[in-house]
Amino acid sequence: MTSTAVLRRDFLAKLVVIAGAMGGCAPQPATPASAARPKRDEWQRVRDQFDVSRDWVHMSGFLLASHPKPVRDAIEAYRRGLDADPAQYFEAHQGVPKADRASSEPGAEELVRMAAALYLGAAASEIALTDSTTMGLGTIYCGLPLDVGDEIVTTEHDHYSTHEALRLAALRTGATMRKARLYDRGESAAAEPMVRALIAALSPATKLVAVTWVHSSTGVKLPLRAMADAIADVNASRHPARRILFCVDAVHGLGVEDETMASLGCDFFIAGCHKWLFGPRGTGIVWGKPEHWPLLRPTIPHFGNDGFLAWLADKPPPPTSADMMTPGGFHSFEHRWALGEAFAFHMQIGKAKVKERIHALSRQCKEGLAVMRNVTLHTPREDDVSAGIITFEVAGLPPELAVQRLHEARIVATPTPYRESYVRVAPGLLCSEEDVEAVLRSVRSMV
Ligand SMILES: Cc1ncc(COP(=O)(O)O)c(C=O)c1O
Repeated sequence: MTSTAVLRRDFLAKLVVIAGAMGGCAPQPATPASAARPKRDEWQRVRDQFDVSRDWVHMSGFLLASHPKPVRDAIEAYRRGLDADPAQYFEAHQGVPKADRASSEPGAEELVRMAAALYLGAAASEIALTDSTTMGLGTIYCGLPLDVGDEIVTTEHDHYSTHEALRLAALRTGATMRKARLYDRGESAAAEPMVRALIAALSPATKLVAVTWVHSSTGVKLPLRAMADAIADVNASRHPARRILFCVDAVHGLGVEDETMASLGCDFFIAGCHKWLFGPRGTGIVWGKPEHWPLLRPTIPHFGNDGFLAWLADKPPPPTSADMMTPGGFHSFEHRWALGEAFAFHMQIGKAKVKERIHALSRQCKEGLAVMRNVTLHTPREDDVSAGIITFEVAGLPPELAVQRLHEARIVATPTPYRESYVRVAPGLLCSEEDVEAVLRSVRSMV
């Protein structure tokens, strides 16, 4: 059995090196594009870290991750340990609630929070761990103190997981919900009009704004910072109890964009880690501003120190913390504990390089699609309002059939799971320029 302490100490040492390279917890300095771009063979080496089938072009980073080698190795090491001695291995890694835990070495979950914090430019204590974006959205939206007379503003463009979590929150609390339309055509969506449309949808009753960073319906990326600033202006004239919380489903920006929690400016940032970030399948995070965590009412009892010790002492729990919003019960711990490796993987490549690479492949793909007469692009070409997801239609072909044609060319793509459905591709780190060319060739041949 791999020593529990060795695995954790090795990972902590890795984080210390990464933190040093990043200049501590500070946001990464903007790197000039030429310096940020590794040579072509370096991207091949990144792709070599994955066990994905080489028979297919994988344009599907928006769905479910393949695990890169460091993540696979960590999962395997933890799995072996758990299989050999589940109870003792769990206790040694996770730690059991005890009063002096703060003074002991960080447990495996704490190390995951530390890695996430380094990546997000945040504090470990501001991060809850979940199993998916959907679990994060459900626990946060249903945990917020909404009431009859309060209004939730979301948009028409959000995913089922946001809409349904908000519907359930409204059902429980008596709050009402309104959906703003931020753009008519994705391709021509622009930052300023989207901010104006969002602000125009607010009313004195609005308590929560719930949006999605990158729409999986169109590929449009919202200008979160500008939206956060505009909401802060509205809040400036409000009584503290009536201030609006700005919450984001960030799943298609995490692992693509080069931002920190300070640069984005939202109140809660909710994301699964098993898509663009290449985290273990069944992992996610929620980051929240420290002052907002005590507002929340947990739904699922957590298994950390805070609530458990209070329960043992027959006392009321302390104010809600990020840890207390980490759903308890036993988990697939080999996956959860290996999540830190996914953050480390991205930081070791460099967040700026990852962003530049994905945007460059996306631009290549969008520029190729935009000049095809049989194609209607639904994703903007501008980098400030797009990320890695690209959606489009092919004249005369329903999206399922166009996706079928891509499959015949050994390209993995999907129709978007929305009322108005488009073809969706995502040239991420698993893809090369040649893969993008293969997509363009296939779409060009669809007439
Ligand atoms: C915008 C958006 N949010 C949430 C989800 C669900 O993510 P998860 O599987 O992490 O719950 C998806 C798609 O899978 C999505 O596109």
